[in-house]
Amino acid sequence: MVARRTDTDGRRAAVVAGVGSCLPARTVPNEELAARLDTSDAWIRSRTGIARRHVAAPGTATSDLAVGAGARALKSSGEPAVDAVLVATTTPDRPCPATAPLVAARLGMTGAAAHDVSAVCTGFVYALASAAGLILADVAERVLVIGAETFSTLLDPGDRSTSVIFGDGAGAVVLRSGTAGEPGALGPFDLGSDGESEALITVPAGGSRQRLSGVPPRPGEEFFTMSGKEVFRHAVRRMTGSAKAVLARAGWTAEDVDHMVGHQANSRITQHVAEGIGLPPQRCFSNIAEVGNTAAASIPLALDQAHAKGVLRPGQRVLLTAFGGGLTWGSTVLTWPRLDPS
Ligand code: COA
Repeated sequence: MVARRTDTDGRRAAVVAGVGSCLPARTVPNEELAARLDTSDAWIRSRTGIARRHVAAPGTATSDLAVGAGARALKSSGEPAVDAVLVATTTPDRPCPATAPLVAARLGMTGAAAHDVSAVCTGFVYALASAAGLILADVAERVLVIGAETFSTLLDPGDRSTSVIFGDGAGAVVLRSGTAGEPGALGPFDLGSDGESEALITVPAGGSRQRLSGVPPRPGEEFFTMSGKEVFRHAVRRMTGSAKAVLARAGWTAEDVDHMVGHQANSRITQHVAEGIGLPPQRCFSNIAEVGNTAAASIPLALDQAHAKGVLRPGQRVLLTAFGGGLTWGSTVLTWPRLDPS
């Protein structure tokens, strides 16, 4: 689905006004996984680009990381509060209620609209689109959009194919009402899904399908499972298609893109997507070596780190593209604004 572009220059738009992130202190290098699983540092680096990932300490929850990232994004925006808080996550604190109201309360914003967005690794791009919708519909002037995960809680510690890939973390942006054409204005968006392929990325147990089947979960069914090879192919195809669609809608060519900040799924996936779009590898920001795949947190975490390192500079044109379980995918573009550090 490509959103219709109704916001020409001068019209209302959702504008990025702040950015922040939060990582748990503990890092797990590949060697630590190789000590307990049939894998190696060399295999993980060459097949995924990952050297280490951050893992939340016992007693931590997704909301803790979300609050850390959200507070920094608010500070960077210079605004103490917003009208709505959206949290994109695959790993909410509890199945019910959503995590966002608690995050809003802990950030001193009891009373703000707050809900979660569930689209696995595409969650942040879906949340950006939803937040932009709230602003364009005049429901909110400012929205805090957070991607936060404690993905380690979903992993089967004995499954080498998933344990080596995922990490924990959170990233956030503040969106404010502004005008299309100004630096930081988001859009257009491209969003899509393919539920026929839902089984490729799934947690089999714990939902209504399993509970109402009358069959108790088999051991391990509470963990995240993924058909790696097929997911790889879908990820490359869908992110490339979505990125091309959004560029066409924006009237940009690959030459116009200074940086692609894609979902950090696997560095080989990013390289294939870049090739498909016609972007040289040096224009693809990558932090996967240090943080792994942090699912819904991946893009805002990458944005904050790229901004902090001075890689993203004001006026540069940025393409965001993501793919995840569902299957889901989505992309958007913006010109990077001048922001305070978080
Ligand atoms: N360490 C060592 N060997 C491993 C391994 C690991 N961690 N994981 C798998 N292998 C083995 C396989 O068992 C297989 O062995 P075999 O040839 O003897 O059967 C071999 O490596 C190749 O497996 P394959 O699954 O083809 O590897 P791959 O190159 O496709 O890499 C993934 C596996 C999971 C890294 C890759 O498929 C991937 O990144 N998929 C997408 C993941 C993703 O992005 N998911 C999130 C989407 S948002």
